[in-house]
Amino acid sequence: MKLLIDDANIDAIKALYPIYPIDGVTTNPSILAKSGRQPYDVLREIRAFIGAEAELHVQVVGRTADAMLEDVERIHAELGAQTYTKIPVNPAGLEAIQRLRKAQPDAHITATAIYTPMQAFLAAKAGADYAAPYINRIDNLGADGIATAKIIQDMFTKNGLPCNILAASFKNSQQVQALAQYGVGAATIAPAVIEGLVRNAAVAAAIDDFTRDFESLCGKGVTMKDAK
Ligand code: E4P
Repeated sequence: MKLLIDDANIDAIKALYPIYPIDGVTTNPSILAKSGRQPYDVLREIRAFIGAEAELHVQVVGRTADAMLEDVERIHAELGAQTYTKIPVNPAGLEAIQRLRKAQPDAHITATAIYTPMQAFLAAKAGADYAAPYINRIDNLGADGIATAKIIQDMFTKNGLPCNILAASFKNSQQVQALAQYGVGAATIAPAVIEGLVRNAAVAAAIDDFTRDFESLCGKGVTMKDAK
């Protein structure tokens, strides 16, 4: 399962990248608004930092298929044709995905705003590379986000659809773990939830104990590099 950062805060991205095994960054219009900066200013900075090979997912905002495809064109021109364009799965979005796939067989397409398995199924048939179910938002509707993602994964496998899940909208480690266990293609996670994946008082206490015991033998501040 690939791991992506769901944020446009360049400082947060720079802080997480050296620590966690990150495969890229996803954004959406709300995330860009939260950054308080002009979209292409912040997106260009993210692309420069993560490099040309890492995945960058940027969402279209146009509301018709024509307007979505114009957004795709500009996103590719600004950030590189390898950039994944996120297209919401409504009728206009499905039309845009089909037209984009036909016009640019190599385009990277992420179908987004997915709340139901049938949206994902149709997006995959239309030609999307990724389908992004919103795990926590589905839970908040009283449905089951993890179960929805598993149904989507099974639908893709059983129908031979070459589309991966990019699970989105996580609020806790358990949701991420359940999908890693199921082997979905990717998960995009907000910085606070990524940090929570290894935050554990028992681990911190164990490491403190190791340090204290070693220092009682060798002296304060001594590590293996300068022990006798
Ligand atoms: C990503 O594609 C989604 O836009 C995002 O993960 C939604 O997350 P949220 O429910 O925390 O806003």
